[in-house]
Amino acid sequence: MTFKPAAWPRKLRSQTWFGGTSKDNIYHRGWMKNQGFPPDLFDGRPVIGILNTWSELTPCNAHLNDLAQRVKHGIYEAGGFPVEVPVFSASESAFRPTAMMFRNLAAMAVEEQMRGQPMDGCVLLVGCDKTTPSLLMAAASTDLPSIVVTGGPMLNGYYKNERVGSGTHLWKFSEAVKAGTMTKEEFVEAEASMSRSPGSCNTMGTASTMASMAEALGMALSGNAAIPAVDSRRRVMAQLTGRRIVQMVKDDLKPSDILTKQAFENAIRTNAAIGGSTNAVIHLLAIAGRVGIDLTLEDWDRCGRDVPTIVNLLPSGKYLMEEFFYAGGLPVVIKRLGEAGLLHRDALTVSGETAWDQVKDVQNHNEDVILPAAKALTQSGGVVVVKGNLAPKGAVLKPSAATPALMTHRGRAVVFEDIDDYKAKINDEALDIDETCVMVLKNCGPKGYPGMAEVGNMGLPPKVLRKGITDMVRISDARMSGTAYGTVVLHTSPEADAGGPLAVVQNGDMIELDVPNRRLHLDISDAELAARLAKWSSRVTPPASGYALLHHQHVQGADTGADLDFLKGCRGNPVGKDSH
Ligand code: FES
Repeated sequence: MTFKPAAWPRKLRSQTWFGGTSKDNIYHRGWMKNQGFPPDLFDGRPVIGILNTWSELTPCNAHLNDLAQRVKHGIYEAGGFPVEVPVFSASESAFRPTAMMFRNLAAMAVEEQMRGQPMDGCVLLVGCDKTTPSLLMAAASTDLPSIVVTGGPMLNGYYKNERVGSGTHLWKFSEAVKAGTMTKEEFVEAEASMSRSPGSCNTMGTASTMASMAEALGMALSGNAAIPAVDSRRRVMAQLTGRRIVQMVKDDLKPSDILTKQAFENAIRTNAAIGGSTNAVIHLLAIAGRVGIDLTLEDWDRCGRDVPTIVNLLPSGKYLMEEFFYAGGLPVVIKRLGEAGLLHRDALTVSGETAWDQVKDVQNHNEDVILPAAKALTQSGGVVVVKGNLAPKGAVLKPSAATPALMTHRGRAVVFEDIDDYKAKINDEALDIDETCVMVLKNCGPKGYPGMAEVGNMGLPPKVLRKGITDMVRISDARMSGTAYGTVVLHTSPEADAGGPLAVVQNGDMIELDVPNRRLHLDISDAELAARLAKWSSRVTPPASGYALLHHQHVQGADTGADLDFLKGCRGNPVGKDSH
């Protein structure tokens, strides 16, 4: 940690709008005063944008306006001037074709909102899956002092007195209906029990994972990730975050000071320890790309390889975020990594303290929720990266959510050309498939879907489910919800629609998955593979116009974070020209 705080007081960027007596200054300041702001708020104190992803169509973030008020209190208390700014909000549960298609659009829009407006620092008020990475990407590209506060997870769900987790039980119940062990009526009854309070998904899904990643990267105050949305301590966290950003602006503590290679390695190891979502792979690669950190899939495999998964939460384990908070939350996990020599202890965080200093005294209050290493869910919990002629640039798999017996498997490919083909065939009793087969889904990557939907954990055929079998090897260029589970190979790169070998897998081909040796192999000759690829052409009709076309033309592969090529890198926060 080599950070040296800047001298204070000094002139901030917001003063190029609000300071002075020129026509332009009076225009910018005077129009703001129509909201009843006293003159002294424009005296050079830090102007803090509260970037609020509230939306009633992003239900996981629908309570953020309340938290924004708490952030404001904190900013005022610390001598700052808070301004609440609504920003693009993509809901995981409702945005079509998939919220992931709009992560980059949101990041681009928010980046310009930060740079083009009078803000000296920002509070990133986020929650649902894509809102957290998109705002972190924007903050990384502007390098304005920024801090994350998340909305927090929903309370535990219960159905018939059993814990039910967001997403995870949606998949489980859906399979149970297909297998005939649950009725449609029970499924609908269970629906109401899954989401019983404001907040984001209460499993260790992508939202909880990304909240944990923000904290592990050092971009949120310690303890932020797990506090339930409706717990009074969530409001306290919001208020403390508001106080803290003001000092960060005075110190000029920027994302580039925090988002170092060490910070990303801490986050990768944390993801392994919590059994986090595979979506974190794509998002961290994209955030790293915005700050110019050379982070690769190999880093994911290298750093996560020997980290036990000690957080016993669904979908890998049995508890939910509420219990994780009561047990001590993420600080306990980070402390355990530090004790095991798996943490860069000196990594700087938004608090101004190191990653180690802020966790070294915390206690684990429940060893069945945060497990001792000897009782870990898996001893090698990191995201596994497999490569081979079927995935020359890599594919990922989450061992803690997979079936150990399937980690080494050779099976006959049953191919679905796209998601519509899968939906048309999967329930057909005549489909030539059994549990030894490998299900292959194509054209669901960043370009092909478009947007890389969370369909990689495709449901099993009913005739297999009826045998009581709940897992098969599945391979695709899609993503999977962080709440999902199974022996699912994801993010296969290059994707099918970019002409990757996945595109030319045929029914009946033999496929070998060898996780211990990190291998994914299509068992045909090199000559046969080359001949098939030479004949391949895309079956996807590119969009004709609009953002969809921009996305299609510029989105990069999952192996580098699926960002738009022209958005990579840090463009800083120059104040630009005035327009009047
Ligand atoms: Fe929003 Fe899960 S759908 S957090």
